[in-house]
Formats: sequence, structure tokens, C-alpha cells
Amino acid sequence: MDNKPFELANPATGVKSLLPVRAGTIGPQVLDISGLPKDHGVFTFDPAFGATASCESKITYIDGDAGVLLYRGYPVDQLAAHSSFMEVAYLLIYGNLPSAKELDTYRGSITRHTMINESLLRFTNGFHHNAHPMAMVSAVVASMSAFYYDSMDIHDPRHREIFSHRIIAKLPTIAAAAHKHALGQPFIYPRNDLAYCANMLNMFFAVPCEPYEVDPVAAQALDLLFILHADHEQNASTSTVRLAGSTGTNPYAAISAGVSALWGPAHGGANEAVLDMLEEIGSAANIPKFLDMAKDKSSHFKLMGFGHRVYKNFDPRAKIIREMCHKVLAKLGQTDNPLFELALRLEEIALKDEYFVSRKLYPNVDFYSGIIYSALKIPRSMYTVMFAIARTVGWVAHWLEMISDPAMRIGRPRQLYTGPTQRDYVAVAKR
Ligand code: ACO
Repeated sequence: MDNKPFELANPATGVKSLLPVRAGTIGPQVLDISGLPKDHGVFTFDPAFGATASCESKITYIDGDAGVLLYRGYPVDQLAAHSSFMEVAYLLIYGNLPSAKELDTYRGSITRHTMINESLLRFTNGFHHNAHPMAMVSAVVASMSAFYYDSMDIHDPRHREIFSHRIIAKLPTIAAAAHKHALGQPFIYPRNDLAYCANMLNMFFAVPCEPYEVDPVAAQALDLLFILHADHEQNASTSTVRLAGSTGTNPYAAISAGVSALWGPAHGGANEAVLDMLEEIGSAANIPKFLDMAKDKSSHFKLMGFGHRVYKNFDPRAKIIREMCHKVLAKLGQTDNPLFELALRLEEIALKDEYFVSRKLYPNVDFYSGIIYSALKIPRSMYTVMFAIARTVGWVAHWLEMISDPAMRIGRPRQLYTGPTQRDYVAVAKR
């Protein structure tokens, strides 16, 4: 790749200087502008970071034009077809696929950390019964820093590893506690004889008064969805985790910030919003009306589950999940699923519409995931929590990558100031 420096002239002095150009292992070249303030006295203006690489990373690669997603170099469709969520978690965090022994040890450690301190359970019980579970989860995750301070030295690699196992292991338990609290049902403790997703389903759906068998189809479907949601490079919630973590705050605080960022409907909250939208549309006859609303900039309505900052082609995860919907619904005996039929029709019509075609708006990961969650009887308010459980792996991988980099500095964007120039204070009586 040609790394010819980029020539830049200072408009005030006319002095020319060269901006270094950096090349990753794949992907477009990147101009290193970090010397601009010192050498030229200027900043760059890039609201919403559409043109800015905020860090160097070795974890995940996306080619948005080609619809490619790689975790540590492995295509996500290969991982979805052959791997498991635990294996993908190991891959994202440690950088390579584990040997059979490494995977076994990793699984064992995650399994042994699934219980949460009883006081954390009592926190959950203090919430209003209809609190949104994302509110409960972000609060309980932040509270973990008050319980697990035996291993919170961010400069100690072993402490960081213990944290990473604890948070990934305990997130499903915290989510299940939030779910049971909303239902008013007793909390179900984790079972170490079950795999990650099966244990989660058991904590969600078992009750103390009768036996409950986890449906392997449901556990497998969830595992696959978790693989697809595990990481997505510098998205809003991951960047939030990195920015919060760059202050040196404890990792639970940083992950809690990520949970809160994920909750927004423009990000992970879209999976819940898609199902609300499909229900509101109601039938295929109403699709044109809703597409018109999505095109009308004054309506504030967007086609939820459509569009992406990086993908200007099919989101590869959406393709896999759409395929998965057919298989999972068939296996669960739910082939007649009106919301899935409506979603398929909506995709078909939108992808022929000039507005969506010209803007390269395709279904994203959230468009079909809610159909699977609803088929698994997971309540709608828990969909974004499911996303958070899976994405915790990515947040942890990015936090670890950042903290273990000796060159890490606090994240601190600059601004283009457009407020008043300096003026003198006027006493209240004279205003
Ligand atoms: N419905 C209607 N119009 C849309 C949509 C949509 N879903 N998405 C983008 N557009 C329009 C924009 O209004 C803009 O139009 P314009 O050029 O006439 O001004 C154009 O398409 C380009 O979009 P951007 O605003 O540049 O997209 P941006 O990168 O800022 O936002 C986002 C991406 C937030 C995902 C947006 O597409 C959106 O809000 N989608 C719906 C919510 C959603 O599904 N979010 C989940 C994303 S995936 C994830 O986070 C897990």
C-alpha cells in the first residue's frame, strides 16, 4: 500500500508540511492528524466522528461497502456456522482461537463466576416493578464496583482478567434477576451444569414449583445471536466504554456507561423498537404509509432496524439472522409468524424504494433479531439486554486492549466554539 505523506499547507503562513499516512493491515489508509494543533494551530471538525479513527485496534474489522465483518480476522459467517459464543468470547478477548484445553478452562472459569453477591440481588428488588431492565442492568453493573474491589487494580493484568471473567459470567444472572423482578417471580440461581445460554434461559424461565427443561433449539439460537452481536469495532457503546475507561475509572463503571449508551434507539435499543414498529404497521397494506413517514424529515420517524453508519451494503449479520429466523421458527413450530412475514415484506418494498436505494439503507443486525427473541418468548423490554450481554464481550476486549497499551491517554475531543466572545459580568439589578 502506498503510504505517501499527505501534503498540507498552513493557510496563514503558506508553510507546507507533510501529514503522516498510516496503513492498517486491511482497509483504507488513515491520515495521522495528531500533530495538527502543534504544527498548524488548527483542529479538525468531524461531528459524529464519521471520518475519524479514534484508536488503533486489532480486534474487529468491518468493510461497510462489501458487507464484511471479521473478528480477529475470522469472517463472522464462519464463526456463526462453526463456533460457539464462549469460543468467540475467548477469540475476541485473547486474540486467537483457543485449544480444546484452553476453551475448557475458559468455560469452567466463566461458569464458576455466574453467582452474584446477594446484596446485588437486593438492589434489583429495590427497583419499581415496571422499571426498564436496561435501567436495572446498568445500575447493577455500576454497583459491582462496590463488591469486587479485591480485583479492580486496572494496572494488574491478573485483576483485569478476573474482572473480564466476572462481568461476562454475571451479566446473564443480573439480566435474569431484572426479568424475575419485573414478573414478581422468585430469582432462580445459576446452574453450573448448564452451558452459558442454556443457564441463562433456565434463570429466565424456570420457576421453583415445577421442573423446567431448556429447549436446546432455543439455547442454540441464542448462542448464535450472541456470536453475531459480540463485537462491532468502535460503535457508540464501545467508544463510550473506551472513553470512560480512558479516565482510569474502574471497569464496571466503564461497562455500565456502555450499557447506557447501547440502550438508545439509534443503537441497540433498535431491536425493541423494530417490533413496536412492526406491530404499529400492522399489515402489508400500511407499509407505503410508514415508508412515506420515514422519508419525511419533519416526522422524526425512522425505519427502525434500517441503515448503518458503516454498512452501505447488506449488514452480514442481518442476512444470517434472517436465514436463522426461517430455521428457528420452523424448529419451534412457528412457521406462521405474521411479524416475520411483515418484516420480510417491508424489507422487500424498502429495498426497491429510491429513497432507501440511493442512501444505501439496508436492514441492520436489529431488524430481524427481535423476531427470534419473541419466538423464544423473551419479553420485548429484554431484547436490548440480550444485546448488552453479548456485546459485553466486545466492550471487555476493547477495554483490555486500551488499558494494556502503554501509550494510552485520556480521551478528550476538542470543539469548534461558536458561543459568545468574552464579555463582562453584569450585576443582576442592572440586567
Ligand atoms: N429511516 C429513514 N431514513 C434514514 C434511516 C432510517 N432508518 N437511516 C438513515 N436515514 C437517512 C438519513 O436521514 C439521511 O438522509 P439525508 O441524506 O436525506 O439527510 C441518510 O439516510 C443518511 O443517514 P445518516 O444520517 O448519515 O446515518 P447515520 O450514520 O447518522 O445513522 C443510524 C445511522 C443511526 C443507524 C440510522 O440509520 C438510524 O437511525 N437507523 C434506525 C435505527 C437503527 O436501526 N439503529 C440500529 C443501528 S445498528 C446498531 O447500532 C446495533
